[in-house]
Amino acid sequence: MSEPSRTTDTAPPTRLPDDAPIRFGVIGAGFIARWFAEAVACEPGAQIVAVTSVHRERAAAFAAEHGIAHAYASLEEMLAAHGPGSQAPIDVVHVGSPNSLHAQHAIATLEAGFHVLVEKPFALTRSQAEAMVEAARAADRFLMEGWLSAFEPGVARLREHLPRLGRLHRVVLSKEQFSSRMEVYRSGGLPPAFDPALGGGSLMDLGIYPVSLAIHLFGELDRVTATGTLLECGVDARGTVVLSYDFGEHAGLEVVCLHSKTSPGTQSSFAGDHDVLSIDDCQWPRRIELRGPAAETGASEDLSVERGVQAPGHQLAYELAEVCRLVRAGARESDLHPLSRSVAAVGVLQEARRQVGVRFPADEQG
Ligand SMILES: NC(=O)c1ccc[n+]([C@@H]2O[C@H](COP(=O)([O-])OP(=O)(O)OC[C@H]3O[C@@H](n4cnc5c(N)ncnc54)[C@H](OP(=O)(O)O)[C@@H]3O)[C@@H](O)[C@H]2O)c1
Repeated sequence: MSEPSRTTDTAPPTRLPDDAPIRFGVIGAGFIARWFAEAVACEPGAQIVAVTSVHRERAAAFAAEHGIAHAYASLEEMLAAHGPGSQAPIDVVHVGSPNSLHAQHAIATLEAGFHVLVEKPFALTRSQAEAMVEAARAADRFLMEGWLSAFEPGVARLREHLPRLGRLHRVVLSKEQFSSRMEVYRSGGLPPAFDPALGGGSLMDLGIYPVSLAIHLFGELDRVTATGTLLECGVDARGTVVLSYDFGEHAGLEVVCLHSKTSPGTQSSFAGDHDVLSIDDCQWPRRIELRGPAAETGASEDLSVERGVQAPGHQLAYELAEVCRLVRAGARESDLHPLSRSVAAVGVLQEARRQVGVRFPADEQG
């Protein structure tokens, strides 16, 4: 793919006016692009200007469905047509392409002078992730991984209440869900979520949630131990990643991360000496319960949050609002989900894949 030209001389202003909508371009017209478009439709401070995909007709159909004015079949075309001086400028590009393309798409977009929100997982390898951060710094543009949990009210509640448990010794975080794409795989197809050439598999698709939540709550860990079950195509169907904190504030803590694309999930829990806090889902915790002496209302305390995630537009609502706020304020990254945490999570997933035996073409490049 040829690189779009740099446009650093026509940079977007550092701060955007408070009442100006943030204008998005979207890469990909698949599952996550739909969630994104539905969230934008519910967010008065955002609009989508253009979409690009591999197949022009899919991009055009997506644009028609979501009221988007411009559709392209190449990223270069979209970036070239929507720079700051153009008739319909884009401020931020949402990268919703397959995992293997995140680094390439994010770097090309940053170098062309646009801010970037890139879907989880941030990248396939630590060196790709570091190159993305370097590109954002060099271009002086905003970059963030779309790991929605960071902005969820249920995760805010965890940040607030976990200190009540004192020192934690065992945390079990589970993100397990039967994938409809597993049916496609079992009947002979190879959907992107299972394709090693595209960075697929359970670790990359679902394991990212518990791993990122652990890093978000407890910081960088000291040791990774991973096991998993491989499919014939070479990616994992399910597995376990144990994150060990040997030193510092959380010394002695083990976080057991369970991920699976073959079975429904179990709840997650945080155990201290006397108390346990449990959550229903580590991607977007809603039912949250504290049990033990730390509970204020008898033996258990309900800390649940009201949060519908089924209605169109609700899934990415908090993340989108935060991106709009940050870009409008001229931020270059999120304090709540900083780039160093995305790089760390990619490093853990890469090491876990190495131990389990999942190799991507990108791994050959280091
Ligand atoms: N945040 C979340 O909760 C969440 C949920 C699901 C997925 N995701 C992430 O979103 C990403 C996409 O997953 P998905 O489920 O949306 O996959 P998907 O349904 O397969 O959609 C991927 C899209 O990317 C397009 N694409 C492929 N190569 C491209 C290229 N070179 N340039 C432009 N577009 C290209 C495809 O185009 P065509 O349709 O034209 O072939 C397709 O529309 C993954 O990284 C995944 O981890 C995040």
